[in-house]
Amino acid sequence: MYKRFHYKRESEEIRLKHRQTFLYKEDFILPLFIVEGDDVKTEIPSMPEVYHFSIDRVLLYLDKMIELGLTSVLLFGIPDKKGIKEALDGIVQKAVKAIKAKFPGLEVITDVCLCSYTENGHCHIGDNDETCKILADVALSHVKAGADIVAPSDMMDGRVYHIKNKLDENGYNDIPVMSYAAKYASNFYGPFRDAADCAPETGDRKSYQMDYCNRDEAIEEVFEDIVEGAKQIIIKPALSYLDIIRDVKDKIDLPVIGYNVSGEYKMIYESVKQGWASEDLINETIISLKRAGCDRIITYFTPYLLEKLSEQV
Ligand code: PBG
Repeated sequence: MYKRFHYKRESEEIRLKHRQTFLYKEDFILPLFIVEGDDVKTEIPSMPEVYHFSIDRVLLYLDKMIELGLTSVLLFGIPDKKGIKEALDGIVQKAVKAIKAKFPGLEVITDVCLCSYTENGHCHIGDNDETCKILADVALSHVKAGADIVAPSDMMDGRVYHIKNKLDENGYNDIPVMSYAAKYASNFYGPFRDAADCAPETGDRKSYQMDYCNRDEAIEEVFEDIVEGAKQIIIKPALSYLDIIRDVKDKIDLPVIGYNVSGEYKMIYESVKQGWASEDLINETIISLKRAGCDRIITYFTPYLLEKLSEQV
């Protein structure tokens, strides 16, 4: 005797009845790269169909996206001038104010890091604890501008502790910290570094981002961030880290977010574009993240996925 499985797969209608994983528009968080100036919408060479937007143009783009069902964005600022001063009061704060004024219901998450602001492109200023103090001030400035959630991506030790304390002291107890708790020193960030003008001038980020050979350490990083006050947990990158996503999902009762990073986007995008894979590869990829345990997904495919979901009835 053996078991029969094929009856579950006979037609799309039947497969649908047995399907365990679905995507919803609310699953997606769209990363946006904001630059200074007016009337700027420039495709990022390393990231097709992803743009540098000035604030006026991003508002127009968001009009369209929200109509498609977008509920959440993650903002990155690219300043004209480098310098910590710009991180404390610059393009991100202006963008948050403008976006929240026009779309109060849109969830605005800000990436908190110094790498687009330091001359050498590193995420710190040398000293870990001094960097944490600056990051806390940066996070506070984002929240004062109207950010709903702050997302530190720097991987300094103790930054969630410093950010959470700073927000609490200033009366922003309700603002969640969505920490990039397990962020690996990955080769999948290449295209992003063009987008955010943050390639390290010398060296790499291996002395502060995680070693990709390690699994248990991710759990330790995640629990530490939760102890320090994080309310949502990002695992980054996502695709080569499905084991980590599942480990974390099984161990914590907080939202787990996968960051489908620039190199993953580019790889999938090009495979489809070149005709090496059917367009359905995109859906398969994003479903794999959800199946692994992601509650939500940060992905450059958000516009595509929203459109696809809008076509289905
Ligand atoms: C900044 C930051 C990076 C990404 C998000 N925030 C780059 C890095 O750490 O080198 C990567 C995002 C992507 O590749 O899509 N610390």
